[in-house]
Amino acid sequence: MFDGNKSISFDNTDQNIHNQISVGNSNFTVTPWEVEGNIDYNKLIEKFGTHAINDEIIKKIEKITGEVHPFLKNRYFFSHRDLDWVLDEYQKGNKFYLYTGRGPSGLVHLGHLMPWLFTKYLQDKFNVKLIFQITDDEKFLFNDNKDLEAINKFTFENVLDIIAIGFDPVKTTIIINTKHINYLYPLSIEIAKRITFSTAKAVFGFSNSSNIGMIGFPPIQSSPCFLPTIIEKKLTPVLIPAAIDQDPYWRITRDVAEKMGYYKPAQIHSKFIPGLINNEKMSSSKPETAIFTIDEPEKIEKKVKDTFTGGQPTVALQRKLGGNADICPVFWYLKYLFDSEGESIERYANCKGGELLCGECKGDLIKKVKPFMSNIQIKREKAKDMIKEYTIDGQDLDV
Ligand code: TRP
Repeated sequence: MFDGNKSISFDNTDQNIHNQISVGNSNFTVTPWEVEGNIDYNKLIEKFGTHAINDEIIKKIEKITGEVHPFLKNRYFFSHRDLDWVLDEYQKGNKFYLYTGRGPSGLVHLGHLMPWLFTKYLQDKFNVKLIFQITDDEKFLFNDNKDLEAINKFTFENVLDIIAIGFDPVKTTIIINTKHINYLYPLSIEIAKRITFSTAKAVFGFSNSSNIGMIGFPPIQSSPCFLPTIIEKKLTPVLIPAAIDQDPYWRITRDVAEKMGYYKPAQIHSKFIPGLINNEKMSSSKPETAIFTIDEPEKIEKKVKDTFTGGQPTVALQRKLGGNADICPVFWYLKYLFDSEGESIERYANCKGGELLCGECKGDLIKKVKPFMSNIQIKREKAKDMIKEYTIDGQDLDV
């Protein structure tokens, strides 16, 4: 959606632009619709003006929750805005809401589950409410090849995955934009009125050829940031766990928040998920790059066996030169989802040293992912009878 070689500069204000980032000769692009290139996460922190998750903030979380989630320790969640403030408010007795979401453009895969697992940990440890938004409208407007009927089916399937994560039904509300717009619409027009086309163009990269639905969409994703204050009838902090590509939405929201009488929403940002092929981002639109929650064990095994790794072309070369764990998706998934810190350090060293062959790591991953997904599949089945407990209007979904 961006004009070819548009290159945009930045400063670190809340309302800014970050379509293309050039660092030395490595280029990468991070927008809500496109993530490409070799991402330098430290540079993202600098360019977006966010803060690194550091030992100090982790200690603060540990003091309250008694436990540090591995995704914080291993910095899968690596950046934040105002998380320290949210924790301070919490300690003063001002509980926050969690807000996250999903664009139902396809089936859910292993990577999608990661921020949700983390969100569940936050819900459990802080005992807080969660709003989960399904942006079916966004996926319709931003994709040329998706009709509403197909998106509806994905919405249903994705809602099963969300429920399967085990969010507390009493404390969790799912909002599906096309069905529940009445809960968002009054807020969204208040927000929309305060954002000019010129800001939207700069922040999201819209151009004259963008359809006008796309241009009007962002306030709909902003609205749940303010809903908790309306529901609770008092100023309520909101913490958004999301991949960092969603940040443009939160920047425009933060920009209008105080003018509208709300707190700025706080964020905790995750890294992106590598795909299983050529290190592409795992993608629902390229089925071979992802392990889906509905994949049978044999399919999972085949996908992992066929995947690209950081290994050498032959065993002899691997023994001699060692592998490249830094670019290996198998190493990545083991590190971030399944290995302990110690196991991961050992795996890294043994891979580099040539003692460990790719087949062994693949075998380890298969052993972990298969039961993990079987467990999700059992819960997805049960979820079919629980939808009403989660939707904001208490209604079932028809597919
Ligand atoms: N736009 C997101 C996507 O395409 C979905 C989304 C809506 C979201 N609200 C959110 C994601 C809040 C994270 C947090 O997937």
